[in-house]
Amino acid sequence: MKPAQLPPGKSGLPILGETLNFVADPYSFVKKRYQQYGSIFKTNILGRPTVVMVGPEAIEFVLSSHMECFSWREGWPENFKVLLGESLFLQDGEEHRKNRRLMMPALHGPALVNYVATMEDITRVYLKKWKAQQEFTWFYEFKQLTFDIASQLLLGTSNGSESARLSQLFTNLTNGLFTINPLPLPFTTFGKALAARNQILEHLTQVIKQRQQNPTKDAISLLIQSKDEDGNSMSERELIAQAVLLLFAGHETTTSMLTWLCLELARHPEVKERAVKEQMQLASKGALSLEQLGQMPYLEQVLLEIERLHSPVGGGFRGVIKDFEFKGFHVPAGWQLLYSIYVTHSLEEIYPQPEVFDPDRFSPQRQENRQYPFSLIGFGGGPRICIGIAFAKMEMKIIAAHLLRSYDWEILPHQSLATVRVPTNQPKDGLRVRFQPR
Ligand code: HEM
Repeated sequence: MKPAQLPPGKSGLPILGETLNFVADPYSFVKKRYQQYGSIFKTNILGRPTVVMVGPEAIEFVLSSHMECFSWREGWPENFKVLLGESLFLQDGEEHRKNRRLMMPALHGPALVNYVATMEDITRVYLKKWKAQQEFTWFYEFKQLTFDIASQLLLGTSNGSESARLSQLFTNLTNGLFTINPLPLPFTTFGKALAARNQILEHLTQVIKQRQQNPTKDAISLLIQSKDEDGNSMSERELIAQAVLLLFAGHETTTSMLTWLCLELARHPEVKERAVKEQMQLASKGALSLEQLGQMPYLEQVLLEIERLHSPVGGGFRGVIKDFEFKGFHVPAGWQLLYSIYVTHSLEEIYPQPEVFDPDRFSPQRQENRQYPFSLIGFGGGPRICIGIAFAKMEMKIIAAHLLRSYDWEILPHQSLATVRVPTNQPKDGLRVRFQPR
């Protein structure tokens, strides 16, 4: 039998490979090669031979059926390891399983019920501020709002200026994740990210010490108290690493989706009208409640379409730790793997006219994502699906419901709404709007 061959594709220049093309526009890079080679191809990016996989079948292989071939720790670039530390995102095997179980209660079930009121209270403060301001840039406002929510619920931070300082530190940290020049000097992006990380660690150490003595209802107190089946809990070092991760992952992504949500609603008045109508029917039955959050099928469709068309995360890296074969191609251990969320969401055979914003794709009659499993993967999928998915969806619904029930907004002229994907997926100028009560 003929030995299986490596996937098609090019390795590019010596050392650099095809890194510069990839970093300049990761979406077009993968899309072009997908069209040329299909759902699996090889390249060389970020200093390593890399296999890229696209489409539901390939994604199911990576995220679910052949997970044992892949490592998260060996996959994410070095910057992630240095800046995000020894957190869930970079753990594998038994260590990951244990920590994920310890973290689940802080982000699911009864804990979430306790979070609703805080999410609403903080949202109201911002609505009032926006009403007074009338014109502002939504991306930056959502970043503060979602960070206030994350830091209050996760860390119990109730002081506005402390939250603003931490939020700025996280912006510096995030910028460092995506720089391809990780020189640790004080004036480089990476150096500033490292300095930000140190200040964040100092802050978290203090908070954890306080909560160990006086536990409250915030997520960090739940993490401190959480014990596995053998009675083990997380060490202080582990707690700090997981808290950095939760704060980082807990607001950048929701900021991106909320910004695109408000942009698409302003661009598509007919969609906004239907969403407003759904909210007004619910509002006539009483104030927003946990029960009501489960009765918003149209808003859910709109959010699924935002997840598809404007996924905040473009894809995921893995390290290949066991040789594997896919579609007759052989991939050796030691390679890097990238699975593409953006390009999977843009496949014509799953989503006809993929560039069109159309929430009815997800109506009960059409359900375009149900033809194949792993077609909609904005939150990843399989056993390591985003641990914050329920938290994020609840938060976005609460904010959207308040906006739709009482406010109107229009996009201000003279700004670029072009998509920028790195470090966070956003409209280039951040979406400047005029905002008023309805
Ligand atoms: C719109 C909001 C969000 C989006 C689109 C999103 C997206 C994702 C994606 C795509 C992954 C999987 C990455 C991969 O397979 O390589 C992931 C994992 C993760 N997310 Fe989220 N996320 C969101 C919100 C949140 C929130 C609110 C939190 C925490 C409060 C969070 C915490 C995490 C963590 C800890 C992981 C790693 C899980 C594990 O490996 O077991 N995310 N997220």
